[in-house]
Amino acid sequence: MAGSIFATKPINTIMSEASETGEHSLKRALGPVNLVSLGIGAIIGAGIFVLTGAAAAKYAGPAIVLSFILAGSACAFAGLCYAEFASLIPIAGSAYTYGYATLGEIVAWIIGWDLILEYAFGAATVASGWSGYMLSFLQDFGIRIPPQFTSAYGEPLVQYNGHWEHLSRIKDTLASNGVDAASLPHMTAYFDLVAFLAIIAVTVVLIIGIKESANLNSAIVMIKVSIVLIFIGVTGVYFFRNPSHFTANWHPFIPPNTGTFGQFGWSGIARGAAVIFFAYIGFDAVSTAAQEAINPKKDMPIGILGSLVICTILYIVVSGLLTGVVSYTALNVSDPVAIGIDAVPGVRWGSFLVKLGAIFGLGTVMLVMLLGQSRVFYSMSNDGLLPPWASKIHPRFRTPYLSSIVVGIFVAIFAAMIPIAVLGELVSIGTLLAFVIVCAGIWILRVRRPEMVRPFTCPWVPFVPIMGILISGALMVALPLATWLRLLIWLAFGMFIYFFYSRSHSRVQKALNR
Ligand code: ALA
Repeated sequence: MAGSIFATKPINTIMSEASETGEHSLKRALGPVNLVSLGIGAIIGAGIFVLTGAAAAKYAGPAIVLSFILAGSACAFAGLCYAEFASLIPIAGSAYTYGYATLGEIVAWIIGWDLILEYAFGAATVASGWSGYMLSFLQDFGIRIPPQFTSAYGEPLVQYNGHWEHLSRIKDTLASNGVDAASLPHMTAYFDLVAFLAIIAVTVVLIIGIKESANLNSAIVMIKVSIVLIFIGVTGVYFFRNPSHFTANWHPFIPPNTGTFGQFGWSGIARGAAVIFFAYIGFDAVSTAAQEAINPKKDMPIGILGSLVICTILYIVVSGLLTGVVSYTALNVSDPVAIGIDAVPGVRWGSFLVKLGAIFGLGTVMLVMLLGQSRVFYSMSNDGLLPPWASKIHPRFRTPYLSSIVVGIFVAIFAAMIPIAVLGELVSIGTLLAFVIVCAGIWILRVRRPEMVRPFTCPWVPFVPIMGILISGALMVALPLATWLRLLIWLAFGMFIYFFYSRSHSRVQKALNR
């Protein structure tokens, strides 16, 4: 007979699991620099390189800077709560384990299931974006892959200016150039081979070892941050030479609302924030590496908050300069940052560099997302909510290799077969739901267990958790109804698995019945 679905997992049990060592445990190899770079690795990606332009062009105008500040503040509140939890309960399950300790098994299951949306679907979404950049890069060098293997099943492709492109992505460009899409060579794709191979390659790295994965991540993070800094440097120098060019583009800073909610004005800033929220996703993935950190109590908050602060500053500066160097009306393109750097007179290598940055940048996002997913499954399996194979550790590599392999295969197939356009919003809503629950958990634990020694304390509780809940909740509300329906269907599917498998295999339930 199973016990209450609201049974909580005792924190003392969690702590003793977290301190296990030996060949059946994860390897502690990560210091503070590795953790900050894991965070930056997961954060800087498709959001800034791809989404910023359309969000500025369609919703916020130059005030996209304010959207970045708004979304960044939701993340700051949630990040402070994550930092307290990650130093208090440094275990690979992250939000899932925090939920188990505070709100009970069913809520923990919901978060664990919900985190699949963030990490596995997130990795698939980014793999699809990565494939787009990679193919365009390869085509620039005359390397061609048969077009039917360049995109998800059923995606219409057209050949334009010598490149095979997604019809959905270049429809606006064709219309504004007066080109009839039907007159161009076209075909339908059936498998995104590049996205598939990217996920498989990242999975292999993750299986080989955490230190190897972290080192590769750190090297790539240096490259992508350098490219972002070059963008800031080049456009910044142009700003000081020609400030009137920028001030003209920044005027009006908040374009007047068109009469439709979300199209410019203050509501446009809010919608812009909901869209570019995707750009911040990933700092929380640092907390899934807690059992691989050498000194998690001290270094987890550094990893989570350090990466968030660095990326927030970079995003605000990049979006400000981008809308100054090019009018926001010209930014509804798939490579806005490349367009921005190309607009600086005399710069010929800009788009090459930015494409390179995006290719590297999106690569580490996939790496850290898949890392997070396998670690969450590892924790859920340790608790009996998923089958035992998911927590099996490779004796030599000391990684949860079976979990990584299964996640990798599913995500690779997913990225290769399913058109990912709508999934970006599903990733955002899933992440925001986890934020809401983590913020609530911090507040609850302060009330229930005030005596616990917290190596990092979130300031101003309950103000910070409440703000985290309210702003994350508001961003969820700004997402379309269809995304909410998909979330509910996903959670209902998860409930089915919980009641038919997890509940009767749960270790916490078994301990209660003893
Ligand atoms: N923040 C990550 C990105 O923008 C998910 O790609």
